Amino acid sequence: MTVTVQVNLGERSYPICIGCDLLASLQAECARRWPGGRCLLVTDRHVGQIYASAYEGALREAGLVPAVLQVPARESSKSRKWLHAVYDAALEHGMGRSSFMVALGGGVVGDLTGFAAATFMRGIPFVQVPTSLLAMVDSSVGGKTGINLPQGKNLIGAFHQPSAVFADLETLATLPEREYRSGLAEVIKYGIIEDAWFFTALENQAEALKQRDMETLARVVSRCCEIKSEVVRFDEKECGVRAILNFGHTFGHALETCSGYGKLLHGEAISIGMVYAAHLSHEVSDLSAQDLERIEWLLIRMGLPVKAPPLDWKELYAVMQKDKKNQRRDPLFVLAPRIGNVVHGVEVPQAIMRRTWNAILDQPENQEEAQAEPSAGRRRRADG
Ligand code: NAD
Ligand code: GLY
Repeated sequence: MTVTVQVNLGERSYPICIGCDLLASLQAECARRWPGGRCLLVTDRHVGQIYASAYEGALREAGLVPAVLQVPARESSKSRKWLHAVYDAALEHGMGRSSFMVALGGGVVGDLTGFAAATFMRGIPFVQVPTSLLAMVDSSVGGKTGINLPQGKNLIGAFHQPSAVFADLETLATLPEREYRSGLAEVIKYGIIEDAWFFTALENQAEALKQRDMETLARVVSRCCEIKSEVVRFDEKECGVRAILNFGHTFGHALETCSGYGKLLHGEAISIGMVYAAHLSHEVSDLSAQDLERIEWLLIRMGLPVKAPPLDWKELYAVMQKDKKNQRRDPLFVLAPRIGNVVHGVEVPQAIMRRTWNAILDQPENQEEAQAEPSAGRRRRADG
């Protein structure tokens, strides 16, 4: 069964097809939109080894003229070097303004290919074929594309919506366990920011989800895409409400940067970032002790980290100040007064940020101090 979630953005609207065995749908859609067209299928070397020839063959069979580029399977492929490699491959293949690109892989391939498509010949269309859970529920939807700079993540980018998204759940069978769990962090995020009922369903179906049960996955991926597409419909360019999708990301991105790209997977950093945001929410935004524990416990059950590695607080703070979404100098947070409801653009006093950091550290910096002076949040948890 295929579920289609529509992203409604006027002339930039597109379908997200979620199901199994979607090659025929991909063929039909591409042949209908760009009959006989040239295309560049960009993938990474892990995904490419498993799926590139089937997808290349399917495109060819549909009368299209594909070429394939495989980039290294790592975050550092979101770079100027690999962006230029995409442009070079497209030019070598004789592509022009009537050509298109296909991103087959996780968020790295999706962000890189989307940005290449946004800028090649002033912008050509592209199709997202997400193969990681994170890419299915988040990065392939909403049109954010970009690459990293040594100074920070996603510092060069464009909003460029795909023409269609094909999330074939069968590809998740080959996704490594740690990558799968990383995607579950973004799934849990949707429950926290928008849908308390969905959060409860995740608690109830945690085992089936961990086992990658197809029916459960179809429901869960569809609901995440529905939530994301609604948010994007209201605020495509992140002028306001789209910021709620960044719950856990202010701190999570800083963790990714300071621990060195690749040490923590994106979803792992976001898991710790969501715990940090939940603690802050408990301190300054009335999140109950019970909801704070539900969030932490669900992340733990999904096998995600909830404690921060020992990093330098000053460095983390400096990175949070430099966040590109932050026009002021103080970090801004998305906080959750309760599960299913968030507010964005919240400033938090520095002392609380620092204390909360110590509270979620794997090994608190000053154990004696932490024990002698528990944070307000911890006091409330102990009381409640
Ligand atoms: P990724 O693209 O690096 O993929 C993770 C790993 O899984 C890679 O080694 C890849 O080869 C492998 N893989 C993917 N699908 C597979 C499959 N089906 N079978 C076997 N192996 C498979 O990482 P990711 O977690 O998918 O995405 C993270 C990236 O997404 C980050 O760069 C992040 O900044 C970006 N992101 C973008 C957005 C957005 O809105 N554009 C949102 C969230 C994250
Ligand atoms: N992943 C955050 C966004 O798409 O806005």
